[in-house]
Amino acid sequence: MVFDLAVVGLGYVGLPLCLQFSKVGCRVLGLDIDQKKVDSILAGRSYIHHISSDDIAEQIAGQRLSASVDFSMVKQCNAVLLCVPTPLGKNREPDISYILKTGQQIAPYLQKGCLIVLESTTYPGTTDEDLKGVLEAGSGLIAGIDFHLAFSPEREDPGNPDSKVARIPKVVGGFTPACLEKAVALYSRAIEKIVPVSSCRVAEATKLLENIFRSVNIALDNVLKLVYGAMGIDVWEVIEAAKTKPFGYMPFYPGPGLGGHCIPIDPFYLTWKALEFGQSTRFIELAGEINTSMPDWVVQNLFQALNERRKSIRGSKILVLGAAYKANVDDMRESPSLVLMDKLAGHGAEIAYYDPYVPVIPPTRAHPQWAGLQSIVWEEASIRSFDACLISTAHANVDYQQLADWSSLIVDTRNAMKNANCKPNQVWKA
Ligand SMILES: NC(=O)c1ccc[n+]([C@@H]2O[C@H](COP(=O)([O-])OP(=O)(O)OC[C@H]3O[C@@H](n4cnc5c(N)ncnc54)[C@H](O)[C@@H]3O)[C@@H](O)[C@H]2O)c1
Repeated sequence: MVFDLAVVGLGYVGLPLCLQFSKVGCRVLGLDIDQKKVDSILAGRSYIHHISSDDIAEQIAGQRLSASVDFSMVKQCNAVLLCVPTPLGKNREPDISYILKTGQQIAPYLQKGCLIVLESTTYPGTTDEDLKGVLEAGSGLIAGIDFHLAFSPEREDPGNPDSKVARIPKVVGGFTPACLEKAVALYSRAIEKIVPVSSCRVAEATKLLENIFRSVNIALDNVLKLVYGAMGIDVWEVIEAAKTKPFGYMPFYPGPGLGGHCIPIDPFYLTWKALEFGQSTRFIELAGEINTSMPDWVVQNLFQALNERRKSIRGSKILVLGAAYKANVDDMRESPSLVLMDKLAGHGAEIAYYDPYVPVIPPTRAHPQWAGLQSIVWEEASIRSFDACLISTAHANVDYQQLADWSSLIVDTRNAMKNANCKPNQVWKA
């Protein structure tokens, strides 16, 4: 069988992309090194909360979607889209090893005329320098002559029901004009609006701008939370009011710290690359510092709230509400909830958590001690047994009125209690 395209890396980005292409009739091959994901797809089973098994099963049954761990199948593909992780190394430097490894895996099977598109978020130059280098070395082919090369950043918004791959405009930059044309033609089959740009580097830089924009604006709201808080002004009310301005303003919200695969990580891809050009990125780094300091501020607030009740943190039973990094998803990557749990446990608190999407905390590199901990059951006696509940992530399917009815002290980092009927001094906004 010849596939219209392969998607390498079947995670939060790659799987929805596979489904979007197969739904419009393309023959899609999903490739991953994780046999379990491949087996799940072939069995029509989803392993991502917001993707339905029925959707996968339908595409498999229609023979538009297949999956494999065998990279030699790249020989049968007209295009290959790379959606592999781009984390930070232990010194917070970009780690593009997954991209390079994938390039090495597919290069021996690359056919003339094939299109390779990198989708992973990364610094400008990754596609036309680093990836191009391994593809050419491993295939003996030349980019722009023998095969096409492009970059097109993913704009997935997990947990947002209005975020449909087909409707999110897709920025595409090609290594040559012919590469761009080929990539635009492919994406046009599955995505409504394509935004061509002049190079892979512009497309890479676009994605970084989008994510740094979020980081900087969240930092601004985190600062205003402290400043306005000291003035007795509720920053959440201010944001609601500012939101009514129909131009020149876009709301962002403060929180307990950044989470997820993108916002805490991507700015460092630019700051690292900027050094090579003698450019400083103090503004971006400052936003990162502010956001990273938020868990400490939240913990201080919890201390004070307990102190008012003549309790100390040591020995207190604390329930952390929401383990995932953002509302309505099951994704734990870089979740600030785990940072808060570390800090509170470090001060001698007894920690439990509740998260309807995360029944058990999975292993994480940075917080291994929480792996295997199970969410408590949502019931009155259990909630009442805690000295305080700390809302870290506000899932929509939690009953916050019940929380108000059952818990004596709530520290709320998300303004989740805004519509609940609460007692005086019961809720501390942090
Ligand atoms: N999750 C998001 O919301 C989001 C949004 C925009 C951009 N991105 C970017 O997209 C990229 C992928 O992110 P994700 O969230 O899908 O990651 P993920 O961890 O969910 O999925 C990555 C997949 O790649 C596989 N993989 C790792 N090494 C591989 C290899 N050598 N060959 C084949 N497969 C391999 C893993 O097994 C996993 O299934 C990252 O660069 C990320 O920054 C993510």
